[in-house]
Amino acid sequence: MKQSKIVTIERHIIEGERAHPGASGEFSALLRDLTLAFKVIHREVSKAGLVDIIGLTGKENIHGEQVKKLDAFADETVCKAMDHTGHLCIMASEEHEEALNIPDAYPKGKYVLLYDPLDGSSNIDVNITIGTVFSIYRRVSPGGKGTLDDCLQPGYKQIAAGYAIYGSSTMLIYSTGDGVHGFTLDPSIGEFLLSHENLRVPKRGKIYSINEGNYRFWDEGVKKFIKFLQEDDKSTNRPYTSRYIGSMIGDIHRTLMYGGIFMYPADQRNPNGKLRLLYEANPMSFVMEQAGGRASNGRKRILDVTPTELHQRTPLFIGSDEDVALAEEFLHGKR
Ligand code: AHG
Ligand code: MN
Ligand code: MN
Repeated sequence: MKQSKIVTIERHIIEGERAHPGASGEFSALLRDLTLAFKVIHREVSKAGLVDIIGLTGKENIHGEQVKKLDAFADETVCKAMDHTGHLCIMASEEHEEALNIPDAYPKGKYVLLYDPLDGSSNIDVNITIGTVFSIYRRVSPGGKGTLDDCLQPGYKQIAAGYAIYGSSTMLIYSTGDGVHGFTLDPSIGEFLLSHENLRVPKRGKIYSINEGNYRFWDEGVKKFIKFLQEDDKSTNRPYTSRYIGSMIGDIHRTLMYGGIFMYPADQRNPNGKLRLLYEANPMSFVMEQAGGRASNGRKRILDVTPTELHQRTPLFIGSDEDVALAEEFLHGKR
C-alpha cells in the first residue's frame, strides 16, 4: 500500500508559521492549545452513551435553552485549556451572557477567542454529529484586561477560525486565511492527521439545507427560492436534494464538502434568524469563503457586519458561491 506523507496538525501549524517570518510562535501555540481542548471534548462525546453524562444539568442558558451536561463540559474544557496560557486577553462563549475575563492570576495576551462549545447539542442524545466552533481575533484594546470592543469586531478581521466536528470520525477544519485544511483524529494515537489539504467548495451544488417546518413563516423570497430549487431543469442541477440534520456544524460541513447551500433565514417568529453572528455565522463564513464559497445575511456579506452585541443573531445563507448568489437574487426580489 502506498502511504502518503503523514502530517500532524502541530506540524502543519508550525509549517504555516514558517511562511510568516517574524511570527512569535504565540499564535501557533494558541491553536495547538485549542486542539487539546477538542481532543478532550472528543473523548467525552465518544463515550456519551456510556457514562452518566447525557441529560440536562437543570440550568437554562441565556437563550432560555436547557443546558445539556456535555455543553457545560465542553464550555469549561475550552475555557480551562485556554485561560491560563497567556495568549488571550478575553474570551466569549455562546453559553455565557458576559464575556469571560482571563483570571487576574494569569498573564493577558494579544488574542481574543470566541466559541460555541457544542453546536447541535439537541442531537447529543441521538448520536448525531455535533461540534465545537471557534473564532480568533487580534485584540484592539491597548493592553491588560480585554474589553467588549475586542469581542465586537467584524468577521473579516478574524485571523483564524474553524471547527471540530464529532461525527462518524472526529475532524478539525481550520483556516488562518490561507485556505482551508482538514484533519482527522486518529484516536489510537491521539493525533489529528492531515486528511483534506486545501479544501475547495464546488462553485455550484445540488443540495439545499433548511428547516422546512418553518415554511409558512418565511418571506416570499425564501419560499420562491426553495420552490425554484425543487423545479426540474437538468442544466442547472435541479431539482436539488434536500438534507437537514438540525446541527449547523454537520449541515455546513456537508455543504463545504459537497457544495450547495445551507440556510437559516429570518422568519416571522425570528426576525433576526436563529444563529449567532459571533459564535456560529462568522467562523463558518470565514472558512466557507476561504474554501471559495460565499456567506450572506441576505442583504450583505456576513463578514462585513459590525456586531453590536455578543449574542446577536443573524440570518445565514452559506455555501457554494453560485447557490448563495442565487439566493440573494431571490431575497432581493430580482427573480
Ligand atoms: P446550539 O446547539 O449551539 O444551540 O445550536 C443549535 C442550532 C444549530 O446547530 C442548528 O442549525 C439550529 O440550531 C437548528 O435549529 P432548528 O431546530 O430551529 O432547525
Ligand atoms: Mn450552535
Ligand atoms: Mn452551542
